[in-house]
Amino acid sequence: MSTKKANIYSVLAHLYDTLMEDVDYEMWADFIDEVILTHHPKPDEVLELACGTGAISLNLARFDEYHLTATDQSLAMIQEGRRKAKVNQLDVEFRTMDFRNIHSDHPFDIIFSVFDSVNYLHSKEEIMDMLMGCYKILNPGGLLIFDFSTPQNSLEAVDYLNNEEGMAGKYRYFRESRYEPDTHFHFNEFDIEELGEDRKTVINRYKEVHKQRIYTLQEMLSIVEQTPYHQVAAYEGFDLIPANDKSTRVTMVLRWQKQQ
Ligand SMILES: C[S@@+](CC[C@H](N)C(=O)[O-])C[C@H]1O[C@@H](n2cnc3c(N)ncnc32)[C@H](O)[C@@H]1O
Repeated sequence: MSTKKANIYSVLAHLYDTLMEDVDYEMWADFIDEVILTHHPKPDEVLELACGTGAISLNLARFDEYHLTATDQSLAMIQEGRRKAKVNQLDVEFRTMDFRNIHSDHPFDIIFSVFDSVNYLHSKEEIMDMLMGCYKILNPGGLLIFDFSTPQNSLEAVDYLNNEEGMAGKYRYFRESRYEPDTHFHFNEFDIEELGEDRKTVINRYKEVHKQRIYTLQEMLSIVEQTPYHQVAAYEGFDLIPANDKSTRVTMVLRWQKQQ
């Protein structure tokens, strides 16, 4: 049986929540909420980019009054988000959107993206497209909040990510992970098997190759400097403390200000 090359998060979408079952999304949503409320007086319209299956927006919808729109490039991830919103009767509007081509028929007070999604942007030009796309649909004074992972994170994580395997429902996966320090690219290759009713016979084989560009804090700061945003903060991990060159994950907070 030949292996079908699949788009990222098309087949993995069926396994994603199992893959992430140890991630504390409630804590992460609390952190994003804390960042929002620390820096914005009256947020109303909130947009999530690269929301995956919607864990953060769905958590925010439990407690907050925000009007939430959650977007992702992958239709399969969005469909799973919609399903969870319906089951849990949570008010989040899900739609597909590529964050290299941001568009909306109404503006937002807050736009955010978490969990290394921005690392799927492979160049400074793609980061600029995302930043300026958000700039166009943010209200004056609105915030763009996004995290990215650094080389430090890849160096620490690659060993435990490599050779990982698992199963969810009728899908089984095997992951190979490698980081290339010279190019700053991190590859995660997922071999995914779809099993038959007996949960033994393999009926389809897929491969998803995930390529992420890993950015240093200094690289990201120098990109942001070329935009009209005011740089409010760069936070380390999940605390409101400043990031530094050793941080593994950095959360950037940028404020829309008038272009000079
Ligand atoms: C590591 S997952 C994170 C998902 C979610 N933020 C979470 O915390 O679970 C990365 C997400 O980025 C999305 N993504 C990758 N490239 C994208 C693009 N160009 N536009 C929008 N979403 C993208 C993927 O579909 C995937 O859902």
